[in-house]
Amino acid sequence: MNSMQIRKKFIDFFVKNGHQHVPSSSLIPAQDPTLLFANAGMNQFKDLFLGKEKRSYTRAVTIQKCMRAGGKHSDLDNVGFTKRHLTFFEMMGNFSFGDYFKKDAIRFAWNFLTQEIKFDPNVMYITVYKDDDESYNIWHTEIGVPEKQISRLGEADNFWQMGDTGPCGPCTEIYIDRGIIYGCGSTDCAPGCSCDRFLEVWNLVFMQYDRQVDGSDVPLKQTGVDTGMGIERLASVIQNVDSVFQTDLFIPIIERIEKLSTVTYKNSSKQIQAAFHVLADHIRSSTFLIADGCAPTNEGRGYVLRKIIRRAALFAQRLTDKNIFPDLADAVIDQMGSVYPELIQNKKLIKNVLNSEVEKFSTNLQHGNIILQDYLKQAQKTKRISGEQAFKLYDTYGFPLELAVAFAKEEGFSVDTEGFEALMEEQRERSGRKVADALDALKVPENITTEFTGYTELITPSKVRAIVKNDTFVDTVNKGDSCWILTEKSPFFIVGGGQVPDQGTLTFGNQDVAIQEVRFIDGRIAARIAAPVNITVGDAVISTVDKQWRINAMKNHTATHLLQAALIELFGKTIKQSGSLVHPDYLRFDFSYHENLSSDDIKKVEDIVNQKIRDNIVVDVEYMPMPEALKRGALAFFGDKYNPEEVRCVQISEFSAELCGGTHVPRTGDIGTFKIIEISALSAGHRRIVAVTGPKAIDLFQTVYSDVKTLSQEFKVKTHEVLDAVFKQKEQIRELQIELRQLKKEALLHTMPEWLSETEEIKDIPYLCKIVQGYAPDDLRDLATMLTNKKPGFYFLVNNSEEACSFIAMVSPEFSSKIDLKKFAAWLREAVQLRGGGKANIIQGGGPRVSSDLCEKIKLWLSAI
Ligand code: SER
Repeated sequence: MNSMQIRKKFIDFFVKNGHQHVPSSSLIPAQDPTLLFANAGMNQFKDLFLGKEKRSYTRAVTIQKCMRAGGKHSDLDNVGFTKRHLTFFEMMGNFSFGDYFKKDAIRFAWNFLTQEIKFDPNVMYITVYKDDDESYNIWHTEIGVPEKQISRLGEADNFWQMGDTGPCGPCTEIYIDRGIIYGCGSTDCAPGCSCDRFLEVWNLVFMQYDRQVDGSDVPLKQTGVDTGMGIERLASVIQNVDSVFQTDLFIPIIERIEKLSTVTYKNSSKQIQAAFHVLADHIRSSTFLIADGCAPTNEGRGYVLRKIIRRAALFAQRLTDKNIFPDLADAVIDQMGSVYPELIQNKKLIKNVLNSEVEKFSTNLQHGNIILQDYLKQAQKTKRISGEQAFKLYDTYGFPLELAVAFAKEEGFSVDTEGFEALMEEQRERSGRKVADALDALKVPENITTEFTGYTELITPSKVRAIVKNDTFVDTVNKGDSCWILTEKSPFFIVGGGQVPDQGTLTFGNQDVAIQEVRFIDGRIAARIAAPVNITVGDAVISTVDKQWRINAMKNHTATHLLQAALIELFGKTIKQSGSLVHPDYLRFDFSYHENLSSDDIKKVEDIVNQKIRDNIVVDVEYMPMPEALKRGALAFFGDKYNPEEVRCVQISEFSAELCGGTHVPRTGDIGTFKIIEISALSAGHRRIVAVTGPKAIDLFQTVYSDVKTLSQEFKVKTHEVLDAVFKQKEQIRELQIELRQLKKEALLHTMPEWLSETEEIKDIPYLCKIVQGYAPDDLRDLATMLTNKKPGFYFLVNNSEEACSFIAMVSPEFSSKIDLKKFAAWLREAVQLRGGGKANIIQGGGPRVSSDLCEKIKLWLSAI
């Protein structure tokens, strides 16, 4: 049975048993900062388990793309060295949300494996959570699994949690005994042993708790079932092969590695096979991650991707000198593209990103290695590379810490990894990583709600529903207290579709106070103020949004939708949003696209958007089920979270449809005008456009026009001739510079006889040292050349400016065997802090301003050689 047949069998079985087939979510979790990557099938149902969301179904079946490389469940370091660990895998799972529980979950799993897959019950072993008698009894009494095939294990094996917080519960696992030849030989070998004999294939989790920040478990309102079975492991048992890498899911990739590296997999050493495994796994994870919009960076998810690519590049070196890794992506795309079309859509992007990242890495490796050698030399005494040095290697040259440690170790040195981590942490703080605060953990009682009115109004009279002071609820605050106010109704927009939060005021009686910040507290809208009067829960309050702020943000938000639609119209569906920021002053749109955009392309984009603005089309907002929105071609951004039962679809007739929670202008004409002011590359294949609209675009036009007008008056030409005039003047300046240099050269010729008369002979070598002012480095070079042509010798010319100097040292070929300029450069550096470099006959450089005794010092140096 191949993997395609396994996929089909699994889905068919559970659909037949009343489950809704739900597609895999993106590997990048939507708006869940607690999670680095989708790491289990249940992630996309987290809010259903927590009872925060309802759907029309209570049973679901999925095959979910998962990553376990970083975060709570990371297998990165194991990959390559075991028969079963992977960073990317597909998890097949069935789910119940307050529907069936232990009994049916166990029965479904047993029936699927024994009746559909036809596993022999004698090789199936079960583990249950240590005190879960109910599960034990179901397995033993109802299913009939003999006692010797059931064991009880503790937290580590049989209690599952998604992350440090969130839904969790005890679990029962199904293992397959692969036989004694896979075992470690220990008499204790049993399910849970780390060897390969008992292979865990299916985990059935009984969701019962919501784990809190402080580690306590709050019971869920309704229990649920979350199961997960990796298709790769199951395939390895069904196909009766040694490891996941020999299943039909990996064979084409292994074969591609063989072809590109000309190394054979079979019968190779363990070390070589490990390299095959690492490459095969890492190419799947990086291909899928890039297709889902992840780009290699130095932070968070992007850094994990970068680490995976670098790890692969290092392991590839065991097989070949060639850069084979990016080309392996073809094997993944060929094989999985029919199941995951995003791979085909993003093929060019995937290859571009991989190529550029691997190339960058190999350059960085070379540079980093030179610097590291320098550090090793400097640390001869301490035999220790400092945290700062390791951090500099990493931060400036992308040289991984692990590599620095390994290389240093080879030379008998250690690395201050703690110092390194401290600097990393500082950098994270500097880059504004959000640190979870007490308000994140605050639970608001269910009866306190804050209805959002801001889609239709900007001023909302309401009542104070709750007050939070010093992270706790209070009934009243005094004038001047800093507090958060939760109102029954609130027009303040907080966040959605990249739009920044509103600003505004709260009015108590006749006292206005500016809001310092708005945010969600446990999903309720809260505004932070310094109380202008004593405030008590129940008081009347008027919330007013800063109109100009909001209206400008709305213009930029609708323009962002037009921009995305224009990009797609011009360049096709491969354009994928990877982020956006909607600010009242500007909009920023990040997207993946494999090619550069020319200035012509940019103009075309602007023309389309401005035409749509002039068409003054109605911006229509409609709520509908997700499938309906998708049928209308609505775009969904992976970074946003949607309730598939009811999504908010923002439509601009026959041009754009996007799922979006943001605020928009009523008609496109309200945007006024649109101008792109910046286009840049964030990384290979990832671009950023910054644009302005409305008043800011007019400001820009006015400023630029007034500058052009001033220039036209200055040049005495018409405004449309300014550019020509500037180019013409640039050309004239260039010609004048050439003329000036020529004249200077002629003037220098006059200096020549005087200077030549000043040369003196040191050890039979004519020597001249001059400290001058007002000479450019090129002048010094011309002068030195002329001097050596007239009279072979050693010439040292320095031009002193106020604080610095530049110099040239030139020696005629006939004396170059006597004077080693390399040694001279070293002496200059040591004695007078001048740095220079060049060739055997000439060195040029600079440093701090020199004093008049330098010429004497050089004379002494010359006399000593
Ligand atoms: N969430 C559980 C796991 O990942 C079962 O799907 O193992």
